[in-house]
Amino acid sequence: MRVSVLPTADAVAAAAAAIVIDVIGANRSPVLGLPTGRTPVGLYARLREARLDWSRVRTFNLDEFAGLTAGDPGSFRHYMDQHLFSLVDLPAAQIGFLRGDAADAVAECERYDQAIAAAGGLDLLVCGLGANGHLGFNEPGPLLWGPTHVATLHPQTRAANAALFGGDVAAVPARALTIGMTAILRARRVLLLATGPSKAAAVAAMASGPLTTTLPASWLQVHEAVEVLLDPAAAAALTPAAVGR
Ligand code: GLP
Repeated sequence: MRVSVLPTADAVAAAAAAIVIDVIGANRSPVLGLPTGRTPVGLYARLREARLDWSRVRTFNLDEFAGLTAGDPGSFRHYMDQHLFSLVDLPAAQIGFLRGDAADAVAECERYDQAIAAAGGLDLLVCGLGANGHLGFNEPGPLLWGPTHVATLHPQTRAANAALFGGDVAAVPARALTIGMTAILRARRVLLLATGPSKAAAVAAMASGPLTTTLPASWLQVHEAVEVLLDPAAAAALTPAAVGR
């Protein structure tokens, strides 16, 4: 895990965009795993501005709220349309997304794993970090799942996502579909972004704590190509030895 601390959240976005642009340029048919949340907003702004050739790119988003249609303003698909998809020339057929409103959520999860496999796996997985150490919606608990699955969201996670629902925590769906730890750990390269003080404890545990299902991101320690980009606030609890590894 190579950990870099950059001067500002904007510098994190710029460095992340440079890596994504590099991966798009270096692969004949790049396959990206993409996150939602506040953290990647600056990254998407820079990718829009970069005027990239998206014609060869395939994307798979990490997760989606259960029960929501793609057009629901609280859905992650709506977020992605707003921040990236409707603003760049990425062919719709090359956008992979979990359908929150699928009648059979289990079948939908299986379809997604098959689609990622058929695309050749993820060349680059970009992800944020939950303040409780979650990746996608792989939540802390007594166990983690490998495949894409339906997850029950922690109250803390629902609260963290309330802004998408007008600040109403009760309106945040209780469950979500998410890629599992297998797709995350099989990505050829992982780029994790974390900014702000609310992430500091999870960042330190991810980088230096034991591997534990109670902090899903700790499992990234076993992956050989993980880059972590932090602003100083998110890096505040790291030991100096953890930086630059
Ligand atoms: C959300 C998403 C994650 C995201 C994380 C952090 O609940 N499921 O994919 O990385 O929480 O979000 P934010 O960047 O808003 O802090």
